[in-house]
Amino acid sequence: MKRFLFALLVLAALGSSVFAQPKIGVCIYKFDDTFMSYVRNTIETAAKGKATLSVQDSQYDQPKQNDQVDQFIVQGMKSLAINMVDPSAVSVLIGKAKAKNLPLVLFNREPVAADMAKYDKAYYVGAKAQDSGTMEGEIVADYWKKNPSADLNKDGVLQYVMLIGDPSNTDAKFRTQYSIEAVVKAGIKVQKLAEDTAMWDRPKAQEKMAAWLTAYAGKIEVVFANNDDMALGAIEALKAAGYFKGGKFMPVVGVDATPPALDALEQGFLLGTVLNDATNQGLATWELAYSLAQGKSAATAVAPLANAEGKPDPKGKYVWVPYQKVTKDNYKQFKK
Ligand code: GAL
Ligand code: CA
Repeated sequence: MKRFLFALLVLAALGSSVFAQPKIGVCIYKFDDTFMSYVRNTIETAAKGKATLSVQDSQYDQPKQNDQVDQFIVQGMKSLAINMVDPSAVSVLIGKAKAKNLPLVLFNREPVAADMAKYDKAYYVGAKAQDSGTMEGEIVADYWKKNPSADLNKDGVLQYVMLIGDPSNTDAKFRTQYSIEAVVKAGIKVQKLAEDTAMWDRPKAQEKMAAWLTAYAGKIEVVFANNDDMALGAIEALKAAGYFKGGKFMPVVGVDATPPALDALEQGFLLGTVLNDATNQGLATWELAYSLAQGKSAATAVAPLANAEGKPDPKGKYVWVPYQKVTKDNYKQFKK
């Protein structure tokens, strides 16, 4: 009898802690991505003591991620937070979640609005990729206008190279397009010398940049990168080619404002970047997934809901986290 009572007490104690915590399944498209590792850390830290998380590495493999979601369903997760490998394949995930009436919070890799509309419990947390491109372009336009010597061959045209992220990705497409559009809108003529994907990756970007420095020796006037890791790779190649000493400079811009990028900005290697707010993307994803896992409505989460266009909407399915321009004038406020 005593033993039975003791067992009951233990169960009660456990019940009030771990058992009372909702289980939430999280997938990251690949752990080996600098920016996503900051988002993941934020989610994990926020969940401590509140929910039991299972965080999976989808290893850049959509079928693998689909299997991970199947596992989550078997394990009785109360909500899912998924950073998709291939957002164009979201219908499969929506089908799985909808069949179980399971709330689905997608983040950072945006599916098209038509797919999002297929399930009332599908949400998206991310940033408007167009804005990050525009801001990158504006940083360059500003620099170009203030520094006539940046036009190396004095032809009145800005010759550039573009390092592209995962080419199928919305962020990569919009940053490539809108950065150049912003430069053109500022009244500057441009000529693309080269563009290629380096898959968001620093070593790949370094290799690409080294090849371009040989192919277009002395002709490149600006380097655009879809993210900071690739900008930092380009800077390595530029350093190896003798840049950033003896007055030899190259304007390089990126997106994310990762801590290493802010260091490079401080040291004068990176011209500018755009804050891609890992903390607030992580927190908004967590708040939504946690509220929904407890059976609460999305509107009770701290993050404000909006529609696909970015307008505030209490019944909306989107949380848009704003980007911010970062240059040597304001970078200090972003250093942690
Ligand atoms: C972007 C970010 C990149 C990379 C990418 C993955 O938002 O700027 O660095 O993490 O997401 O999809
Ligand atoms: Ca020129």
